[in-house]
Amino acid sequence: MSTPLAFARSTVGRKVIMAVTGLLLVGFVLGHMAGNLLVFKGPEALNGWGAFLKSSALVLWTVRLGLLAAVGLHVWAALTLIRLNQVSRPVAYAKRVPQASTRSARLMRVGGIFLLVFIVFHLLHFTTGTIHPGYTFSHTDVYGNVVSSFQVPWVALFYIAAMVALLAHLTHGIWSFFQTMGWSHTRYNPARRVVATVVALIVSLGFIAIPSAILGGMLR
Ligand code: HEM
Repeated sequence: MSTPLAFARSTVGRKVIMAVTGLLLVGFVLGHMAGNLLVFKGPEALNGWGAFLKSSALVLWTVRLGLLAAVGLHVWAALTLIRLNQVSRPVAYAKRVPQASTRSARLMRVGGIFLLVFIVFHLLHFTTGTIHPGYTFSHTDVYGNVVSSFQVPWVALFYIAAMVALLAHLTHGIWSFFQTMGWSHTRYNPARRVVATVVALIVSLGFIAIPSAILGGMLR
């Protein structure tokens, strides 16, 4: 039986789902990071970008539901692949020598959970305004929300820590994406490693610049 559902249930199918949804999410974080860097151009630029993103309810909700589906499928594929891995080796090794691959797999799990916690916090913080430590949240003044929140040290440090987790997750995730798609050859492996590291660094350092600049008093 080779229906799309049977493919999605197979190990390869789940890996492809994880890779494709991961790629969509990388595209989102790249765009989101670039948009947020408008904070350095001032309140008008960032608030104008925020208003533009919310100008069509249909587009906004299509993107939101698409992101929700991508995150849901990504997490589902990850959890069920972990489960399959455990079921195929029910008895633990008598003496387990940690390999680089098992260490990075563990880091992906722990980092992935931390990123999920971050995303929930982040939505309650900047989208719904439920969490707004020490300032008044505004649905139209995105610049004011960002600058006021990162003047609170623990909030800025929490975001920086999450972006370090994002750096590790993206470096390994993008590298694995090439592997899953079959673009793996000893000749190209160093280039794969470079592409994965550079993209992950661009995204995470771009984000880290924002809380760091505000905490350092460069923006107010
Ligand atoms: C320093 C890092 C970040 C900053 C300063 C930031 C800033 C923001 C701001 C200001 C909003 C609200 C936009 C508005 O209301 O117009 C927002 C929404 C959002 N952010 Fe971030 N963000 C950061 C990192 C991230 C990361 C790493 C992710 C994903 C892993 C992410 C995912 C989202 C999502 C899903 C939304 C909701 C978009 C919507 O309203 O539908 N953000 N972010």
